[in-house]
Amino acid sequence: MPGVPGGYVEAGDKWYYILHPRPAYILVTEYGGRVNFMAASWVMPLSEDPPRIVAALDKASFTMELILSSKAFTVNVLTIDHVDFIYAAGTTSGRRVDKLAVLGAEISRDTVTGVPRLSKPRPIGVIEASVYRVYSDVAEDVHLIVADVVAAYADPEFFNEKYGWDLRKARIAIHAAGRAFTIPGGLYIAKKLAAKH
Ligand SMILES: Cc1cc2nc3c(=O)[nH]c(=O)nc-3n(C[C@H](O)[C@H](O)[C@H](O)COP(=O)(O)O)c2cc1C
Repeated sequence: MPGVPGGYVEAGDKWYYILHPRPAYILVTEYGGRVNFMAASWVMPLSEDPPRIVAALDKASFTMELILSSKAFTVNVLTIDHVDFIYAAGTTSGRRVDKLAVLGAEISRDTVTGVPRLSKPRPIGVIEASVYRVYSDVAEDVHLIVADVVAAYADPEFFNEKYGWDLRKARIAIHAAGRAFTIPGGLYIAKKLAAKH
């Protein structure tokens, strides 16, 4: 490894923590009568036109396997009140246990597309996604999933269409590293330094 510039420490194997903290979502899917969910932080908006998201999902995860067949999943946003649930969802596999039963979770199909979402714990925001394309050869460990956003909705107590999340209330669980999570700690409105393009 080449040295790093003076005053910095090498991030090492956990280089990606440099790009954290990132919200930790719960991805829910269903195929062949099996509902499963996992924690996922490597999920982000991809495009507005058309509305798409991208997710990097472990090829070995059961959720990923189900998504390859079902082609549909929900992205569920939880608050920090459910940090233990999120961590457990991200450290146990549906291959070995029924996570719904073990973690006392419940799902609902009262969605626009019928794909299940979490109902317990209750998400403060949900995106319903339909798989557009799967890139399997960009990494050894993950599939890169590009998915259409088919529906997106949030609890009006925490979200509005103009400003997005009200960060004074929406204590979204954000993953830092390992078992460490954080929450939005302030609201800063950026000054306009340059004219908009
Ligand atoms: C906070 C957190 C975030 C995670 N983010 C991702 C992610 O973005 N992509 C991924 O493949 N796995 C991620 N994981 C790991 C999966 O959730 C984990 O492999 C899970 O056990 C898979 O469960 P399954 O086999 O039931 O699908 C994350 C775990 C935690 C705790």
